[in-house]
This record gives sequence, structure tokens and C-alpha cells, in this order.
Amino acid sequence: MFETLTAPQPDKIIQLMQMFREDTRDGKVDLGVGVYKTPEGKTPVMKAVKAAEELVWQTQDSKGYVALAGDAGYLAAMKGLLFADAVPHARLAAAGTPGGTGAVRQVLEMVKRLTPEATVWISAPTWPNHPAIISYLGLATREYRYYDADSGGLDRAGMMEDLAGVQKGDLILVHGCCHNPTGVDLTLDDWRALGELCLSTGAIPFVDMAYLGFGQGIEEDAAGMRLLAGMVPEMLIAASCSKNFGLYRDRVGIAMALCGDEKAAAATGGMLAWLNRQNFAFPPDHGARAVQTILGDAGLTDLWREELREMREGMQANREALAAELQRITGSDRFAFLAAHRGMFSLLGASLEQVEQLREEHGIYLVFDSRMNVAGLTPETIPLVAKAVAEVMG
Ligand code: LMR
Repeated sequence: MFETLTAPQPDKIIQLMQMFREDTRDGKVDLGVGVYKTPEGKTPVMKAVKAAEELVWQTQDSKGYVALAGDAGYLAAMKGLLFADAVPHARLAAAGTPGGTGAVRQVLEMVKRLTPEATVWISAPTWPNHPAIISYLGLATREYRYYDADSGGLDRAGMMEDLAGVQKGDLILVHGCCHNPTGVDLTLDDWRALGELCLSTGAIPFVDMAYLGFGQGIEEDAAGMRLLAGMVPEMLIAASCSKNFGLYRDRVGIAMALCGDEKAAAATGGMLAWLNRQNFAFPPDHGARAVQTILGDAGLTDLWREELREMREGMQANREALAAELQRITGSDRFAFLAAHRGMFSLLGASLEQVEQLREEHGIYLVFDSRMNVAGLTPETIPLVAKAVAEVMG
């Protein structure tokens, strides 16, 4: 059975993690995988999470199974966090999943069963796991233009021109905020235009919300998705707590569907729970319980929001410092877009050869498409990275 097997290549992000680990040079700089780091280069457990875990440890008296969709308290807390009062929560079907990737997978599994003929429209570029999961499930996919490399901003006209080709029942996959890999977000007007397009064509928006709170703030980052939810009859959502709660390895995510009414939401919730059963049975509980504990306690919520604010502001400060240093060295504002982008990522605009040169000659690790995780910068590495980028990119 296994004699002729060739292991599939891991995707580019996972390959890069491996290469970084194996690099023995001092002073190597990891701007690859999307993990938050402090100025000291650490990815600590958030204080609010530690406190919640302690509470869980003290009070939890069983590790028995919970429910196929995860704990009802977690689902309710996440509905509140993501949607506040933008839509009646009874219209939201939800199930816990192993991380945001698990949520993307479970949402697409449901689409595969309900409308296998649907095409999933993805932004060019997007996070590599989007096309990977879509093609793994055998769904059709098409790209819509998104990033304008010349301006470092949104190719608004190209995006709407491409999306004019959607058919009824197609999915339009959009990033809720902090677009991965470009760092370019939709404005509220863009979200409104997307809602109008969905209403006129019958396409269904699918929002991947992996970085809530990393852009401009929780409410600001959720505003577009909430606006859209108030406009359309149906919507799909995959959300992650990996980044904003720092719960990467605990795998905390949620798959959701906004349905036309309460009855449809109950049936859809049942479908999501059933799909969990087919794939992994019960979603992980530990991290989800920490999230639920934080969101259910005003003091812990304040502490978490404060820590999230610090992370967000740290990343923004890194962006501004790097853009300023590049402007100082190059005497041009060609890298000014770095300060205008939001979240962890920006596309630097380097070629594959330049990305390799940065890695091989300077020990600076960027994803192959030149995606840079700005959270990986520190006050010490910013001048070194800026110098290397200026040298390599001319
Ligand atoms: C990333 O884009 O680097 C992260 O979302 C990690 C991952 O799973 O790819």
C-alpha cells in the first residue's frame, strides 16, 4: 500500500517554518508564519488566557464529551463577539471546529453537500490553504482581482469587474479583515458594494475572519462583515481564535452560517454538527472553554481587549518604523504602503529571487510570494531588515 507513496509537499508557509527551524545561523529573522511575537521575539500565552485556564482548571470536574457542535456557551459567546447585535442570533447556525482552518474546511464540506456545482471565488492572491482545501474537496474555484501591486492597495475596479461573473449560489470568499497575504482591507463602501452584488446575483458571501482585532479594533474590524450580514439573507463564516487569543496550538475555531430564518438555522446547525461527527466527532474543548470564560467575565474581557490592543499597536508601530527606515535609506516613499496596510501581513513586492536572496544572504525569512509578518520585527531587527530590503530590492 505504501511502497509507491510520495509524500505531498507541505504548502509554502509550512515549508518555510521547517527551513527556519533548520537554519543554524545566529540573528536569523522569522517574518514567515502568521504568529504574533513580542518585541522580545516571544509568543507568550496571554494573561487573560492564563487566568481563564486557571479558572477552568480549578472548576472543571469532568473531561467527558461535550457536544458535537462544542459547548453552547462558546457558540453564544462567539456569536456575540463576531456579530454583536447586527443580526438576530437565532438566524446564526454554528459549530466549534479545530481552528480557523477547520472552520473553512467544515463550511466548504457543507457547501460540497448542498451545492456541489457552486464555484468558490477567491481573491488573487489569498492564503494558500483556501485554494488547497477547495481543490481537495473537488469544488470549482475562480480568482477575482484584489491587490494592485502598483498602488499597494485594492484593485477595486478589477475586483468588481471579475465578480460580475458570479452565478447564483456561487460563494465569494472574502477576508473579514487584515487580508492574508496583502494587508489590504475592504472599506465599508466595498462591503456594501459586495452586499449589493450578492443581492442582485444570488451569490453567497463567505467571510474568513482569522484576525479580528489585529487591524483597527474589534468593532472596527467586524464592521464590514456585520454590515454585509445585515444586507444578505445568507452568509457563511469561518472564524479563528488562534491569533487574537493567541491559542494557536489549542485549535479554536467556529464555522457559522447566517440563515434566512430560525428554522433554517436550526437545521443548518444540525448539519454542521453532523459534519463534525463525520470528520473528527467532537471539536477540541480546552481552548474554546478559555475563550468562553474570558468573554463571559467582564474583568477578563477587559484584560484580553487591553492585551489585544497592545499587540495591534505593536504591529502598527513596527509597520511605521520599517516604512520610515526604508524611506530614510532609500530616499523614496515606495515602501510607504507598509504603514497603510493592516494586521500582520504585507506583500513586500519582492521577486522570488529577491526573497531567496533575503533568506540566503541575510537570514531574513519571508513567504515566497514576499509576504512579510510585521509582528516578527523587533526594534533591533528593523534597521537590519530595512538595510537588507533596500540592498536586495535596489
Ligand atoms: C499564516 O497564514 O501564516 C497562518 O494563518 C498560519 C497558517 O496556518 O497558515
